[in-house]
Amino acid sequence: MSPSMIAPVMEEENKKYQKGVKHLCDNGLTKVPTKYIWPEPDRPIFTISDKLIKPKQNLKLPLIDFAELLGPNRPHVLRTIAEACKTYGFFQVGSQNPKLHEVISRFLAKQVSYGNGQVVNHGMEGDVSKNMIEVCKRFFELPYEERSKYMSSDMSAPVRYGTSFNQIKDNVFCWRDFLKLYAHPLPEYLPHWPSSPSDFRSLAATYAKETKEMFEMMVRAILESLEIDGGDEAAEELEEGSQVVVVNCYPPCPEPELTLGMPPHSDYGFLTLLLQDDVEGLQILYRDEWVTVDPIPGSFVVNVGDHLEIFSNGRYKSVLHRVLVNSTKPRISVASLHSFPLTSVVKPSPKLVDEHNPPQYMDTDFTTFLRYVSSREPKWKNFLESRKITI
Ligand code: OGA
Ligand code: NI
Repeated sequence: MSPSMIAPVMEEENKKYQKGVKHLCDNGLTKVPTKYIWPEPDRPIFTISDKLIKPKQNLKLPLIDFAELLGPNRPHVLRTIAEACKTYGFFQVGSQNPKLHEVISRFLAKQVSYGNGQVVNHGMEGDVSKNMIEVCKRFFELPYEERSKYMSSDMSAPVRYGTSFNQIKDNVFCWRDFLKLYAHPLPEYLPHWPSSPSDFRSLAATYAKETKEMFEMMVRAILESLEIDGGDEAAEELEEGSQVVVVNCYPPCPEPELTLGMPPHSDYGFLTLLLQDDVEGLQILYRDEWVTVDPIPGSFVVNVGDHLEIFSNGRYKSVLHRVLVNSTKPRISVASLHSFPLTSVVKPSPKLVDEHNPPQYMDTDFTTFLRYVSSREPKWKNFLESRKITI
């Protein structure tokens, strides 16, 4: 074929991938298309029989039971949080206890009663996280035409359906489709959220509200674990901050050893609360090795984002993580990303900076970040690295 003929063919091919992985798989697939094949050093290591070589056992992240924060164990739990944020940049919240939400709502009810003297009923109806996973599954099962209504190339669109990381810029695609929802302030964004499935908005809105409450609860614990006296100012700013809910869909992949659900990245933001279904896939970089996080049903994986690393002046680490796919089971995860308002300037807390601890990061605003990600693939920790002060 002459070069002049190859170009249109390539364009046609690329158009196909713009519709996402789910669409591709729904039309039958036995091999991973070249577009999704990662360079060898970036690929996960599988054996020929399609089994992931696990360097060690799955990683059991420190498990935080927030109910204990109220009791005599509070100082101990705070120390565990601090240790986890320094060592792994990750921890899990919850317990084997299927009544996690009840535990959390009891905690919140008390927390609110401490805060303003009145008890608000936070009783969570039914199983909020289970409903969320389930309705998201149904969203991704809708016909492509319905899902694609929300496709947009505008990075700051309040609702954005898409594929890979940045489907305009990525050279190699990831095996992932997503639905990104701006979630705070909710009344402003909710009318833009998908209206199908018919119960999507109500279930996802409940989920967003309750994760926001969990985030607020965790922010107070994190500030206290940093031993910042009167961290209230930051807590209040974060309460008014941004929340983006990202639903990730990873269809089964015929050759999971060749691709990634998500490439190594750190999360922009202060904290991410990640809900996974029962299929494993998340790996974090721990002591230079990729380790798989054991999903604990009903619990949340919480991780330090770039903003918390900056705010804590490097005490807490925004750690690289990635997602593997597998050949048999579809996987859904819901990441709720929380941070300061988009108009804020993020900088090391003045309370953690003194003559012995000079600021390690430049003041950083959202515009700088957007400019950065629009100009390249937000892989690895490039953005955070670019904000480091080097002497
Ligand atoms: C993310 C993320 C992990 C997962 O959405 O930023 O890292 O398991 N997700 O889907
Ligand atoms: Ni992430």
